[in-house]
Formats: sequence, structure tokens, C-alpha cells
Amino acid sequence: MRYIYPKKVPIYKFLFNANSLTKNPIPFHKKYFNECSDSFTVANSKKRKIFLTRDAGIAKQVLKQKHKKYIKSEIQTKFLSKYVGYGLLTSNGQLWLKQRRLIQPAFHKQKLEKLIEIISSTVKEELLKIKTNEFIDVYPIMNELAFNVVAKSLFSFSSDKETLRRLQFIIAELQDFIVKELRQPHKRWWLNLTGQVKKKLKLSKESRQLILNIINKRRESNETHDDLLDMLLAVTYEDDGSVMSDEQLIDEILILFVAGHETTANALTFATYLLANNTQYIAQIREESKEIQDTSLSIGSLAQLPVAKAVVDETMRLYPPAWITDRVAVEDDDLGKYQIEKGAIIGISFYEIHRDPRHWNNPNDFFPERFVGEEAKKHSKYYYPFGAGPRMCIGNNFAIYEMLLTLVNLLNNFDLESSDEEMYINPLVTLRPVNAKVKFKKLYE
Ligand code: HEM
Repeated sequence: MRYIYPKKVPIYKFLFNANSLTKNPIPFHKKYFNECSDSFTVANSKKRKIFLTRDAGIAKQVLKQKHKKYIKSEIQTKFLSKYVGYGLLTSNGQLWLKQRRLIQPAFHKQKLEKLIEIISSTVKEELLKIKTNEFIDVYPIMNELAFNVVAKSLFSFSSDKETLRRLQFIIAELQDFIVKELRQPHKRWWLNLTGQVKKKLKLSKESRQLILNIINKRRESNETHDDLLDMLLAVTYEDDGSVMSDEQLIDEILILFVAGHETTANALTFATYLLANNTQYIAQIREESKEIQDTSLSIGSLAQLPVAKAVVDETMRLYPPAWITDRVAVEDDDLGKYQIEKGAIIGISFYEIHRDPRHWNNPNDFFPERFVGEEAKKHSKYYYPFGAGPRMCIGNNFAIYEMLLTLVNLLNNFDLESSDEEMYINPLVTLRPVNAKVKFKKLYE
């Protein structure tokens, strides 16, 4: 069989650019996408080919149409699971399918209605903490907010503050360490030798114990809270009617923390920053949300916020928090003009698809109007903030609800002022905003 891969970028170009590449690979990707007509092969080991693409047609085939021929790579599964377990995000094959079927109903819109009270009161409590009248970095605020929204949606108010703080600390430590290991694979031996890996594994174990304590306490209490934990405890497998084992339940809870908080925090930070720099949308959002009592912002009433929704959509187009994903072919396949071998790894850059001038007018401009009304439909083929196909984000409705609720509450309580300082992006596992400075001014004292 003759395999056909995209044009190869020689390995020395990677080595030559190693430093800037680990800091921010996006400009490097762009250069070679432009030079190699949308896809390029990045490494050419004897065993397996790796190629990167911004071809929306390939993305659709791999993630949706031919999803059965693809699984997630070891980086997204084996490597991540070392610290955060095998939950939905990090599993493949039968385990993933079984868990997805089990957990999906907990994220249906009707079920989310039950979480509204929890999400809404958490958002409001967090926004009260904002320091006003000076330029501050928005990320820590949104990170705290998004963490607490996931934590309280999972455990409502039944876990004590100290436990949540400790969990938050451990999850942040683990996430930072995962990035460190991923970015500097050549230093892994050093991280092992100096005991850092062992230390993080110990932290991971501690987080599992903390979660188990919460679960046990809930079981003993016999109380119902209508939160995600109640739902996860109640769901049963189709085949034998059994419930999740404690280990699996802990894995899934850890994964919901990991998948659900940093992504949302990034998006909310970018959105706040963009609104501070494009204040015309602030007035429009205030106007459209006037009729809606924020506490009764039901999932259905979100449809009455077209501008806020378009701002969120446009924010995630420009800055998709999950900016890249990958898949491995489990059998030989043809992808357009390419013929790939089993084992080939495909990296799909959502970031580049979202900024391709062939699909988007003035792709680098912030222009939420492109997501309003009929216009929006034109773009759906090139828009992947939550991925696509059966592995699409399970928390997408949850995230959209949380973000709209936060923005509406934020803008109805504060004016935003933009700073002269520039914001940067840091493409780690997620696309993180750096130095997103905004001044918040209280509307009513
Ligand atoms: C703005 C916020 C969010 C963004 C941009 C986002 C993005 C994504 C993307 C792109 C994927 C698919 C990755 C792939 O196919 O390789 C994904 C998967 C996932 N997300 Fe989200 N996500 C967000 C919020 C959330 C929230 C709030 C939760 C849960 C509370 C969540 C839980 C998950 C889980 C469990 C998966 C794995 C699903 C599976 O493989 O079956 N996400 N997310």
C-alpha cells in the first residue's frame, strides 16, 4: 500500500525553532499551513506519521463522519490519566462509550434547569469579589468563578470551603505539571529523578481521597441536593442496572473539574477583555437583558440574548479555549487527497480553522454580528469551539449557560474600561489569556 501524506516539514526546522515553538506554536503552524496547503507532516519517525491540519473537510471526516476509525492519542488518554484518571475526556473505546451513555443524560437541558439556582448564586457571589477602579487581570477572577461553578454544581453546598480550596489547589498544581511535562518531554527524566512526578502523584491520590470523602458523606446523609453528584450517584448502566464504581465515579468527577473549569475561565476572560475593548456591545447586552430577571434566567430565556450569545460565539471563534485536538487512525484511511496508515496521528487546529479567511471575512476582527440570525448558519461547518461528532463536549450547554449568565450579571453591575496594555495568548493544553487587564467600575454603589 502506498501512503500519501501532506508535505513534510523537516525535523531540523522544529529543533531550530524548539524554544519559540514550546512557548507558542501557533505562528509556526500558520507558516507551514500557508506553505503546505493546509496540512503538513511534522515528524517522520519510522513507526508513525504525525500531521497537522486546518482543513475543515478533514476535521469533519475525522471527528464526525469517520469517527469510528479514530481514537484519541496517548497524550490525551494514557498521559493525562496518570494524574486525573480515566474519565470521559481521557478514555477511548468501550469504556468511553459506556461512560458517555451513562453520563450524557445528566447534561441534558432539562437536567441543567435544576442547576440554575446553584450556578446563578455562585456567579453572583464571585462577581461581588471583583476589585473595582483599578486595572486588574481578569483571568484569576474567572478562574475562581469557573472552578466554584463546577464545584458547587457537583457537590452543591455540601462540601466545606477548606476541602474545596485544597481540591482547587491540587487540580491547578496537576494541570500546571501536566503542561510542564508535555512541553518539555526531554526533561521528564529530570522531573522523575527529582521526585516531582512522585509528589504530583501523591497530590493526585489526595484529591481522590477528598472526593471519596465527599461521596461517602453524601451517601450517609441520605439527603437529596439535585446536583451533579446526585445525578452521577443515581445513574445506572443499561446492561445490568449497576451503578458506577467509586473509582470510576472519582475519575469522572476529577475529569469534570479539569475539562469544565479552565476552558470556561479562558473564554470568560477573553470575552470580558473583548467587551472592554468593544463597548458598543455592552449597551446592547444590557438592553436585551433588561426584561430578564437574572435569577430566572432559565435555559429557555437564553434565546432572548442574541447579542450576548453572539459575543460568546465570536469570542470562542477568535480564541477557542480548546484550540487543538488530535486523533489516531485505528485503520488505514483516505482523507481527501491523503492516504494514511493505521497509527498515524492527526492534529486538528481549531484555532486556524476559525481564522481562515476563506471561511470568515476579516477573520482577525471581533465581529459578533456574524453570529446573529441567518449569518450564523453559514459558518457552522467551520466552527468547532466544542469539537464535533460523538466526542463533542458534553458540557457545552452548561458552559454556554454559565458564560451568558456571568456576562449578563457582570455587565448589569459594572462598566468595563480597556487598558493600554496588550493581552497575549498562551497555547498550553488550553488557550490561555495572559495579561487580560480590565478596569471594573461599579454601576451602583
Ligand atoms: C467554554 C467552555 C468549554 C469548551 C470550549 C470546551 C471544549 C471542549 C472540546 C473541544 C471537547 C472535545 C475535545 C475533542 O474532541 O478532542 C470537549 C470535551 C469535553 N468537555 Fe468540554 N468544553 C468546555 C466546557 C466544559 C464544561 C463546563 C464541562 C463539564 C462541566 C466539560 C466537559 C467535557 C468533557 C467531559 C469532555 C469529554 C467528552 C467526551 O470525550 O465524551 N466541558 N470540551
